Amino acid sequence: MEIADVLSSYKNELEQIESCLERYVTSDIKLIPDVAGHLIDSGGKRIRPLLHLISSRLCGYTGGARFPLAAAIEFIHTATLLHDDVIDEALVRRGKPSANIVWGNAVSVLVGDFLYSKAFNLLSETGDLRLIQLMSKMTNIMSEGEVFQLMKCGDTGLTEEEYFSIVEKKTAVLISAACESGAVMGQAEENATEALKQYGYNIGMAFQIADDTLDYMATEEDFGKSIGKDLEEGKMTLPLIYTLAHCSRADRQMVKSAVDKKELTPEVIKDIFALIDKSGGIDYSLQRAENFIRKAKKGLRIFDDERREKKQLLSVADYILSRKI
Ligand code: IPE
Ligand code: IPE
Ligand code: MG
Ligand code: MG
Repeated sequence: MEIADVLSSYKNELEQIESCLERYVTSDIKLIPDVAGHLIDSGGKRIRPLLHLISSRLCGYTGGARFPLAAAIEFIHTATLLHDDVIDEALVRRGKPSANIVWGNAVSVLVGDFLYSKAFNLLSETGDLRLIQLMSKMTNIMSEGEVFQLMKCGDTGLTEEEYFSIVEKKTAVLISAACESGAVMGQAEENATEALKQYGYNIGMAFQIADDTLDYMATEEDFGKSIGKDLEEGKMTLPLIYTLAHCSRADRQMVKSAVDKKELTPEVIKDIFALIDKSGGIDYSLQRAENFIRKAKKGLRIFDDERREKKQLLSVADYILSRKI
């Protein structure tokens, strides 16, 4: 089953989510829908809402509360993107100038806050304390991840373990919660809830590792954001962490000195790209992502192979490794 087949199976539901996104972003303060709309209407992949829909259906829930809940999850994601682009001084997001460039940092931060609080407003309307606890704990961890990442920016001594901890916090927990909340909606048994939570966690880890690898190998046209941005910012990600641990002392010194002195000119970046490629940093990262995908798929074994939703989850897992955008 291809990802396109999965998306077309949920076409109607995804459209309902789009209407929720549009409806709940309205405000008398026109700047809010302008800024939020700029990002929301520019074609995100909606991978988290999709995962929520599949997980809910797998656990037998097909009621109307899925739509505001999936919208809340996408709002949390959108808020983190607005904030992330301020921190990363991004220029492009989803193929368009990012909100921080168009409206400035202050506006991006405040509209991000609006989306966060709107998400919790929507969650509170479900009246389900378990969902609210799940989501609030998760956003709290995401903030820890962002702060930890910021603390480690420019630190060429970042270990793989620390990197994985950042990835878990900033990305995997949200994708995991998108899946787990579907199980909560379906009042699934504990083992099914745990399986979906773990599946989301594992594909979430792979998703961020793939994103960090794409930062070294995609084209801006496909990816919709600048390439080489992580290195330019001094953000240590897996391809570079692996390279630093396996290259010659002289090469390591060259990278360290460029990052320390913040001398990441286009020429130096080109040299580091070549070094990463030569050292096998890309292949290694893709392999690690693949391992997480394997684990994610294995964890779904408790569900019947004949279930359509299980096949859809397997297809989403494969898509994460093959994506170019
Ligand atoms: C981007 O997420 C941020 C990461 C966690 C890597 P997505 O790649 O899901 O972004 P959109 O929503 O499709 O633009
Ligand atoms: C993902 O990190 C950050 C969030 C979880 C918001 P990145 O900084 O790698 O995301 P992109 O590459 O800007 O989308
Ligand atoms: Mg970023
Ligand atoms: Mg990135």
